[in-house]
Amino acid sequence: MIPRSDLFRDLSGSYELTSGATVSGPADLVDAVRLALPVLDLRPGDSGAVDLRLDPALGPEAYRLTVGSRGVEIAAGGRSGAFYAGQSLHQLLPPSSYRFSAGTAWNVPGVRIEDAPRFSWRGLHLDVARHFFPKREVLRLLDLMAVHKLNRLHLHLVDDQGWRVESRAYPLLHEIASHRARTATNFSRDPESYDEIPHGGYYSLEDLAEIGAYARARAVTVVPEIDVPGHAQAILTAYPEFGSSDDRWQVLERWGITRAILSPKPPTVEFLTAIFDELIGALGETPYVHIGGDEVVLDHWAESKEITAYRDSLGLSSNGELQAWFLRRLADVLAERGARAVVWDEAFVSGELRPDTLVMPWRGMGVGRRAAAAGHDVIATPVFPLYFDYAESASADEPMAIGDAITVADVAAFSPVPDDWTREERVRVVGAQAQLWSERIPDPRTLDYRTWPRACALAEVTWSGSAGDDFPARLDEHLGRLDALGVEYRPLDGPRPWQRRRPHRPGKVPVSEVMKRLNAMTHDAESTKPTV
Ligand code: ACM
Repeated sequence: MIPRSDLFRDLSGSYELTSGATVSGPADLVDAVRLALPVLDLRPGDSGAVDLRLDPALGPEAYRLTVGSRGVEIAAGGRSGAFYAGQSLHQLLPPSSYRFSAGTAWNVPGVRIEDAPRFSWRGLHLDVARHFFPKREVLRLLDLMAVHKLNRLHLHLVDDQGWRVESRAYPLLHEIASHRARTATNFSRDPESYDEIPHGGYYSLEDLAEIGAYARARAVTVVPEIDVPGHAQAILTAYPEFGSSDDRWQVLERWGITRAILSPKPPTVEFLTAIFDELIGALGETPYVHIGGDEVVLDHWAESKEITAYRDSLGLSSNGELQAWFLRRLADVLAERGARAVVWDEAFVSGELRPDTLVMPWRGMGVGRRAAAAGHDVIATPVFPLYFDYAESASADEPMAIGDAITVADVAAFSPVPDDWTREERVRVVGAQAQLWSERIPDPRTLDYRTWPRACALAEVTWSGSAGDDFPARLDEHLGRLDALGVEYRPLDGPRPWQRRRPHRPGKVPVSEVMKRLNAMTHDAESTKPTV
C-alpha cells in the first residue's frame, strides 16, 4: 500500500466483494467511499457488505478498516477519513481494479488497518503559467492525488509568462495576458532560441468552480496562487496602470525573472481584491490563497518618487518593509474572506507578515526554521528534494530539465521536520509539498513523467512521516496500479525510448550548487533584505 498505513495487520480469511454490493452508513461517508471505489458500483442500503460509521474520536482524515469473513467495516473521523478508507480498500484489490474494464467479483484479503496522516498539508504544486494545462489534466491530476492521499493542489495561476484564469472584472487579463507568441527552447544560459509557436490558455470561472468541487469531493483543497508583487509581467501587459514605472510590457517568452513589479498603492490592492473575490467566488470554500512574494526585483519602487513618498507616508524605511506591508494588506483582505495567505520565503525575509500567514521555504529549510521560530506555520518546499522540475537522474536520457538530479530515493529520504529543530519550531511544520514548475514541462505526458513516481515518495513521507524500509518493494507493486491508470510515469530504471525527447544537459546545473547559492542568499538575508 502507498502511502504506508500506521497499522496493517493480516487477518485470517477473506471476503468476496461483488460489483453492486450494498454499503450502509451516514450519507456523506457512503458518498465518499463510492467515489473512491467506482469499480465496485456500491449501492446504498440499510446494512451491507461495507458498513460505515462515524467515529468522532478519530481525526477528520483518520479511519479504521477491517476486512473479515462477514464483510468490510469502516470507522472514519469524517468524510475525508471515509474517502481514504475507500482508497486503502481499493489498494487491497488487484491493480486491474483501476481499469474501467475490471471484473465483477473481488476476493479481498482479511486485514485490520488503523491509519491517520502525520501531516495535514500533503501538497502538489502545478505551474500552469509557464505552460498551460487544460482543465481535464487538472481533474486527472486530482484523481491521481486522491489515490495517494495527497490533499493540497497549489495552482500557480499567474507568472510573467501568462495569466490563466478568466476575470469578468478585468477581462484583458484573460484576453491579452493568457497567451504569448512563442516560447524559449534553449537550455539555461545557452544562446536564446524560440519555438515560434503561440502558447496560451486559461480556465473560465466555470472551469474553476468545477475544479474546486471536483477537488473537494476527493478530499483535496485547491490553493490558488496570484503571485505578486513581482512576476507581474503578464498582468502589466494587460493593465500597465498597476505597474511602478511607465514601461510597456509584453507577456514574457523566455524564462527567468524581470523588473516588472506591481505598484503597492491602494488601486493595486483594490484590483487584487476584485480578483480574489472572483477566484474565491468561483472555487467555493477557499481556506488558503497564495500571494507569492518570491524573487521580487524592487528597482522600480526605488526609482519611483511617488512610491517612495507613499512608503515614507506609511512610516516604512525600506522597500523590503514596503513589500511586507503590501502582502500584509492583501492577507488582511483575504482574512476578511475567510482565507489565510500563503507566501514564498522571501516575503517572510522582507519584513513582518500577518502572523497567520503560512510560509513556503523553497530556498532551504534554514529559512523555514527562521519562519517557524517567528511563529509562522511552515510547509516544507525546499528545491532539494521537492522541485520536481529537476531531472530524475543526472543522465542525458532524461527529458530536458531545469537542473539535476532529484531521484525517487532522494524524495523518500526527505524528512519535512529536521531533527535538530526545537520542539516549538517542529510543531510549526504542517507538511510538505512538491513543486512542478513548468518551464521544462511543456505537456501532460512530460507532466506524468516528472510527477510519478516521485510523488509516490512524497505521499509516503507526508502521510506516514517517513518512507518505510519496504517502500521500494511496495512502490514496485504500486507501479502496476499506475500502469492500469494509464500514467506515463518514469520507469525506475530510466526513460522509455520515446520519453527521452530533447536531451537533458547533465552536470550543467547540479542541484547541490543551486542549494548552496540559495542558502547563501538566505543567510545574507539575516538582514531582512529581499534576495534579488
Ligand atoms: C520560486 O521558486 N521562485 C518560489
